[in-house]
Amino acid sequence: MLIKEKNQLKVDDRLKHIAFIMDGNGRWAKSRLLPRKVGHKFGAENFKKVVRLCFEAGIKAVTVYAFSTENWSRPKDEIDSIIALLKEYIEAVKQEKDVRVVFIGDKTSLPESLSSIMIKAEEETKHRPLYLYIAFNYGGRAEIVKACNELIAEGKAIISEADISSHVYTNEMSDPDLIVRTAGEYRISNFLLWQSAYSEFYFTNVYWPDFDRKELYKAIENFYTRKRRYGGLNKDEE
Ligand code: FPP
Repeated sequence: MLIKEKNQLKVDDRLKHIAFIMDGNGRWAKSRLLPRKVGHKFGAENFKKVVRLCFEAGIKAVTVYAFSTENWSRPKDEIDSIIALLKEYIEAVKQEKDVRVVFIGDKTSLPESLSSIMIKAEEETKHRPLYLYIAFNYGGRAEIVKACNELIAEGKAIISEADISSHVYTNEMSDPDLIVRTAGEYRISNFLLWQSAYSEFYFTNVYWPDFDRKELYKAIENFYTRKRRYGGLNKDEE
């Protein structure tokens, strides 16, 4: 059941894990005649607020798409600005009390100066209860291939769905119940391909930096109107 008290939403176990494709930072900046990197700066500020709001609402895990394996084709200046924001956030998250940060994606091909601080932050926060998965240098297909290769290396000749689920980066949490994409695009963009098999999707035209408490609550309230069937029928439909 979804509870709303004094402008505060509280979710139950139906919504344990939420994921965001934080799209529209560039267009948000362009519409204000600002450089794209300013859009990312406001996007990063908003990311912190939205993550906090999700945890305050009782959600146990949040996954965000910060940088895909395809994003390296962007101008160097823009990439550098996103990496700088990530580094700032890595410092900030260590000061939190309850957030456990896990970076999902290929760390092995990142500069050592970045991967080492990511690993250190994961280590320092690993006893905390709330999961924050940050997808960085992440690709969903590559994640599935990685899982299969690990299973082959373990000597598996036949691979089950459960095997792959236990080898994707988010294996300690259940799959996302809800995936939100901002900025009016209706695609998955190689995000959580394995984990999204039964996720509910919510799309909004709002650019990520403008996705505030009101918009988040709209997405959650909309999620609570959905009937999740997982390919079957609900009791009232039999
Ligand atoms: C998509 O907007 C956004 C990104 C590729 C980067 C997301 C990064 C942040 C929110 C900031 C850094 C994150 C952390 C975790 C500190 P876009 O640039 O594709 O926007 P557009 O489609 O309008 O051009």
